[in-house]
Amino acid sequence: MQSCFRKMLIKQKLIRWLEDHRGVVIVLFCLPASFIFDICLRLRNGIIRFLFSAPHQHDERVRAVQGAVQKWNKLPQMEKRPMCTSRPNWLSLSTKFFQKNKCHQIPVSLFDILHLDKERMLIRLEPMVSVRDVTKYLIQRGYTLAVTLEIGDATCGGLALAVGMTTYSHKVGLYQEAVASYDVVLADGSLVHATSKNEHRDLFACLPWSHGTLGFLVALELKIIKVKPYVHLQYIPVKGKKNYCDKMRLLSGALDKDAKTPDYLEATVFSKDEAVVMVGNFSNADQPGDKNKINNVTRWYKPWFYKHVETFLRAGGGDELIPLEQYLLRHNRAIFWVVKSMIPFGNHPLFRWLLGWLCPPKPGFLKYTTTPGIRAMTFTKQVFQDIVLPITVLEKSIDITEQLFDTYPILIYPCRIYDHGANSGQLRPPKPDQMCPGADFGMFYDLGVYGVPGKVKRRERYDAVEAMRTMEAFIRENGGYSFLYADIFMAESEFREMFDLTLYEHCRVKYGANGAFPHLYDKVK
Ligand SMILES: Cc1cc2nc3c(=O)[nH]c(=O)nc-3n(C[C@H](O)[C@H](O)[C@H](O)COP(=O)(O)OP(=O)(O)OC[C@H]3O[C@@H](n4cnc5c(N)ncnc54)[C@H](O)[C@@H]3O)c2cc1C
Ligand SMILES: *[C@@H]1O[C@H](CO)[C@@H](O)[C@H](O)[C@H]1NC(C)=O
Ligand SMILES: *[C@@H]1O[C@H](CO)[C@@H](O)[C@H](O)[C@H]1NC(C)=O
Repeated sequence: MQSCFRKMLIKQKLIRWLEDHRGVVIVLFCLPASFIFDICLRLRNGIIRFLFSAPHQHDERVRAVQGAVQKWNKLPQMEKRPMCTSRPNWLSLSTKFFQKNKCHQIPVSLFDILHLDKERMLIRLEPMVSVRDVTKYLIQRGYTLAVTLEIGDATCGGLALAVGMTTYSHKVGLYQEAVASYDVVLADGSLVHATSKNEHRDLFACLPWSHGTLGFLVALELKIIKVKPYVHLQYIPVKGKKNYCDKMRLLSGALDKDAKTPDYLEATVFSKDEAVVMVGNFSNADQPGDKNKINNVTRWYKPWFYKHVETFLRAGGGDELIPLEQYLLRHNRAIFWVVKSMIPFGNHPLFRWLLGWLCPPKPGFLKYTTTPGIRAMTFTKQVFQDIVLPITVLEKSIDITEQLFDTYPILIYPCRIYDHGANSGQLRPPKPDQMCPGADFGMFYDLGVYGVPGKVKRRERYDAVEAMRTMEAFIRENGGYSFLYADIFMAESEFREMFDLTLYEHCRVKYGANGAFPHLYDKVK
């Protein structure tokens, strides 16, 4: 009995020690392992690409997906488990651990860029093309996606079936607004092409936020925009919550739909009273003196981007030219500021120069090596949320975030939410008081909260579920939406209050998804 007790005590001490020295453990073991893991993964992808890349074989590969689905259809009723893709869960960026082994897995290994249509300003690609790859491909040619994500490992298809938004979204809206068409293999194995105009416009409207519960995506067309090689970025420190909130509303065009807005807009909130607003425009960097303003922010020895931004609070502002590709992936190395809680000394110059190139630990590796135990431990000690809220409640949302999670920085960037009419997808039309005057959209924003809650840092009692549920109630009250890649704690009725599933349920029936794919709520809860 006593020895058992002693063992428990030692175990507790060990866990405590590991927690206190998490950084050392991660640097010594996780970072090198994650680096090798990433090399292997890239090598694997490279080999697959080398051996199998063949855009002209797209149709054939789609037929293989159709074949696999048709085969599922012929199974006896008893053996028909709901279908999902065979992409391992640890490869996805989602913080959830959806149990794919309970599903019938269909291989959808489609990772080729198919066609760049400069006339229609569209790129057609297969769903597993990563943001990193498509960004590289497009920037070389003078374009980029109208809406992308700052994380290179995200896939174009994953973003389309979930949600994506970026610092360009105050001009164009969510990722789904930048999708021109989806090619989908339905539950019966048939292939449909859905656009906002054709007979499958109901499906078109419901695929975003559907998380693969209506069919398998096999190709999509995305809108692209013309770019210049650099982003001229201005850092504007603002004191006072109301001041920076007002500034974001003004700059985003929320108050006047015809206002000239910057190309990129974002704010990092460092405390309730301090934020740095970032305003960026495309630039050729061809003015005299421009070459001296170039900052290669993603180099391994450079300070983490949010730390760099923080320096402008004291410096009183400034401006720089950042190569576009580096701008788009500026948050990649510190995964916004998630890496800080893993490697507290990771931004030390010595560490950066010596080992900075090992960062970030790859999300895939972290998930691959996460056991249910670690998972239970981390989810109660960390918060990971992206939330879409109307920009009218910006101040209130900062207050409630501080009250519930007490962790900074907080990420903010505005995004249009278009009014597509009632029951036109999982998102509801913005309420009248949330609409931008005279426009067909309301200005919303992404509230990104990533980090260790203050209570956990101070070793006080922290109830993750309660905090999250309070936040979710706030989101519902204000007509906002939780990103579904993160953990949600809503009951089904609450989920249906947040999301409008009217058209979705209609599509589930019409396109035979019931019984063939998990229900959205079951997949993301
Ligand atoms: C730290 C952090 C910060 C983030 N910040 C932002 C942010 O600022 N803005 C933002 O928009 N997002 C953000 N995200 C979330 C990101 O948008 C999601 O994780 C997104 O889904 C990433 O894509 P993925 O390729 O990993 O998708 P996956 O998770 O692989 O896919 C999404 C869903 O679609 C299904 N699916 C994928 N491909 C197919 C297919 N071909 N056929 C059928 N079903 C399919 C999957 O099963 C899954 O349910 C952030 C995530 C993290 C971890
Ligand atoms: C970007 O363009 C906007 C709108 O034209 C302008 O108001 C802003 O000053 C510009 N900012 C930078 C950093 O170039
Ligand atoms: C930034 O990187 C480019 C090459 O990618 C290099 O030519 C340039 O000199 C670098 N600029 C600075 C200021 O480091």
